[in-house]
Amino acid sequence: MATLKEKIEQLKEEISSYKQNSAEEIEKFRLKFLSKKGEISELFDQFRTISAEEKKELGQMLNQLKQTATEKYNTLKDNMAAAKENSKKEDDLTRPSYDLDLGSRHPISLIRNEIISIFGKIGFSVAEGPEIEDDDHVFTKLNFAPEHPARDMQDTFYINENVLMRTHTSPVQAHAMEAAQGKPIRIICPGKTYRRDDDDATHSHQFAQVEGLVIDKDINIGHLKSTLELFAKKMFGEKREIRLRSSYFPFTEPSVEVDISCANCGGKGCSMCKGTGYIEILGGGMVHPNVLKMNGYDPEVYSGFAFGIGIDRTAMLRYGIDDVRKLYTNDVRFIRQFKKMS
Ligand code: PHE
Repeated sequence: MATLKEKIEQLKEEISSYKQNSAEEIEKFRLKFLSKKGEISELFDQFRTISAEEKKELGQMLNQLKQTATEKYNTLKDNMAAAKENSKKEDDLTRPSYDLDLGSRHPISLIRNEIISIFGKIGFSVAEGPEIEDDDHVFTKLNFAPEHPARDMQDTFYINENVLMRTHTSPVQAHAMEAAQGKPIRIICPGKTYRRDDDDATHSHQFAQVEGLVIDKDINIGHLKSTLELFAKKMFGEKREIRLRSSYFPFTEPSVEVDISCANCGGKGCSMCKGTGYIEILGGGMVHPNVLKMNGYDPEVYSGFAFGIGIDRTAMLRYGIDDVRKLYTNDVRFIRQFKKMS
């Protein structure tokens, strides 16, 4: 016959593994373990008959067993009450709806949408072009010389000799000019771009740009500067200032590199701006007369400006993201941080 100690252990096991939770089963539990005629009471009866020495050891065990059974009984009851409450809620068709677990917008989409909205307020509409392009639109119509290094296989993903992944959004300029047939243009063109770069903290073989193009009569570099100043202030804060540095692109003349005063130090110089007080954010310039001519505009009558903003870089500066790869590995813990901003 099992000793008292063995019986205590056996009941303990039975109690802790008890899983039934209908009202009936819970009552059965109470009768079996906790009632006056229940199994624990029986063990207490048996307890009275054992030696004083054994009582010392088993008394505590037995009391603990009773406590475990009582706690289990209370938990079973509580769980059932909660389940009942919940099912009542489910039946109540007038209750407010539960929160929907919506996703969050990707930081690149957030910035792209914001750029569209900033430029939309000053009359720019959105144009798009294909990501798989021909050499003509990516290079030739943008005044790239036949031997220009950007045409090199090292820099560009070619699909065949004439078809490639666009390396920038500038080919949308050529498409827009073809479509406008000599009429004024004021567009921005957001989209994905591709270059044969080795991915690291600041390079990605896929990235996003927004192209801007304005063509009209009497457009000068002052228009470019004030447009980009407005963008910098709206995107990075009213205190930001911009600086134009002379640069080179085949499709603009003169060409500029545009820096904004560092948001971190306000232009004094810090580690973020590498001590210069400024951070480069985009390239731009006046549309090259050859580009106007090649795409159906008389450069004696029309002039224009164009710019290209890196969306990834803007997002990194705006949100303090230190590694561009974070934008492409799609770790939801990273993306969820942008939920509040969607
Ligand atoms: N396409 C250029 C680049 O990718 C940027 C640019 C756009 C420069 C428009 C001038 C005018 O670097």
